Amino acid sequence: MIIRGGGRLSGDIRVPGDKSISHRGVILGALANGTTVIENILMAEDTRRTIKCFQDMGVEMEMDGDSLRIEGVGLHGLHESKDELYCGNSGTTMRLLSGVMVGQKFSTILTGDDSLDKRPMDRIIIPLTMMGGSIKGVDNRYPPLHIEPSKGGLEAISYSLPMASAQVKSSILLAGLYGNGITRIEEPKVTRDHTEMMLKYFGADIYSEDGFICMEPNGLLSGGYIHVPGDISSAAYLMVAGSMIKDSHIIIRDVGVNPTRTGIINILKDMGADIRINNRRIANLEPIADIEVKYSSLKGIEMGGEMVATMIDEIPILAVAAAFASGRTVIRDVEELRYKECDRIRAIHDGLSNMGADIEELPDGLIIEGGATLKPAALDSHGDHRIAMALSIAALGAEGESRINGHRAVDISYPDFYKTLWKLSQ
Ligand code: S3P
Repeated sequence: MIIRGGGRLSGDIRVPGDKSISHRGVILGALANGTTVIENILMAEDTRRTIKCFQDMGVEMEMDGDSLRIEGVGLHGLHESKDELYCGNSGTTMRLLSGVMVGQKFSTILTGDDSLDKRPMDRIIIPLTMMGGSIKGVDNRYPPLHIEPSKGGLEAISYSLPMASAQVKSSILLAGLYGNGITRIEEPKVTRDHTEMMLKYFGADIYSEDGFICMEPNGLLSGGYIHVPGDISSAAYLMVAGSMIKDSHIIIRDVGVNPTRTGIINILKDMGADIRINNRRIANLEPIADIEVKYSSLKGIEMGGEMVATMIDEIPILAVAAAFASGRTVIRDVEELRYKECDRIRAIHDGLSNMGADIEELPDGLIIEGGATLKPAALDSHGDHRIAMALSIAALGAEGESRINGHRAVDISYPDFYKTLWKLSQ
């Protein structure tokens, strides 16, 4: 993909449906009783993997316009798949599905692509094994995962997560639907709570008590109608582009603004961005709003601790914003980024360095001295959708032509990303 930087961005747009909410809608819709309709579901590579896995286990799902209609089979209605369940590039599919599969009365093998094969699964193997699940990986850590029916049935556990991870939390909660007792989970930092919200919406008994998320299985989920808001993680690329490219003005309609996801908005505002949240409303317990962004000059900032968990997927694009801001930005406590679809600390460091940014890699973050004039360059996505999009926005901010290698990685979460950029730059 060749990107010519320099022009302003303006327009009134939507971004595709939230990836996390879409995965959860498919999983809980399949396990619920009755029909679930998921409007504005994200149809991208990652969510298609989750859909296909459940189709392989006998769940009927079909698209009707931009809605997916699921005929739920109930908690005990899945059938053994003829083939391995292929999760592709999707960590969410593999980790959340593992929680469901340890509760089944049949065996399953979960596989992934080369990138997923290198991602740590011990973080789910350990708690699911504590629950009595039978789940084995390569070196007890990596895919493929072999899951057998649990010998004595699943026990609910009380578990303090060693890392801030919504995928691990969700995996345990899903297994907890098959456990005999109250599942209790404590998080080191608050992470996205879409699983909790949707479980509640589908009738599960889920509440917080003494800092723990608690769920008491009541044997039944009831399907329903879900509206998936636009993905704030996808909107983030456009919020940063609109903030840092002169004279830009973008309105992004119908974006999810769940407070466990809005760290990026808070940080950009602290950096001096002109971002307004309009027309707030709620759909299936999830807050939604329209986001208006205008160009403004950004300044560097220091961040770490609690807040980075609410913007973990946005750190690469934030690093881009920091490179265009004035002054120093320090990002700490994001070592988790090294275990994503690629090592995102290294990848964004290398990409921005190639463009002439003054950026230093830390074991758990980055230091960026903003304000250098970035020059166009040949940039590599490392097969990672978030790196492809972040570097594309950096390229838009640099005068001249950059080349993004492996740009189709955007198909993982935002297939129309380049079409949207093109529309905004007309
Ligand atoms: C996700 C949780 C996060 C995030 C990923 C989606 C989810 O991963 O990076 O893109 O849907 O639960 P971790 O739980 O590994 O932090």
